[in-house]
Amino acid sequence: MAHKHKILILNGPNLNLLGKREPEIYGKVTFEEYFEKLDIDFSEVDLHYFQSNVEGELVSKLHEVGFEFNGVVFNAGAYTHTSVAIADAVAGISAPVIEVHISNVLSREEFRHVSYMGKHCLGVISGFGLWGYKMAIQALLTEQTSL
Ligand code: DQA
Repeated sequence: MAHKHKILILNGPNLNLLGKREPEIYGKVTFEEYFEKLDIDFSEVDLHYFQSNVEGELVSKLHEVGFEFNGVVFNAGAYTHTSVAIADAVAGISAPVIEVHISNVLSREEFRHVSYMGKHCLGVISGFGLWGYKMAIQALLTEQTSL
């Protein structure tokens, strides 16, 4: 059997509270529930999931997979808007990264309009709810088969 594409979904701070946290913004589904569906939808992909509330753990995870995996779908939560360390890690790895936000960050407070990591990403998907993760996986797969 052909080698499966390895893709990591990486979620940053407070995203462990999905389903409970501000459901009017982030929805009522937990990420674990959604991940089970994604894993079935993309059975041809070796899909991994990691969440951390700790900035350095996100940096270390990027280092761990960043030279081996075929891509990373990354919702860095509030660290998107603050973290130079995360931006540097995204810039430093060879795997393509897609930045995802559940909400449309451009329609929210001004401090959410800045992304330090964004310029190092293949692209940004924001405002489509959890569907954004699925779009990002599809984008990574399409990008790699069209090369
Ligand atoms: C978020 C948007 C961020 O501004 C916020 O800090 C989050 C979630 C989103 O998915 O919409 O924690 O990344």
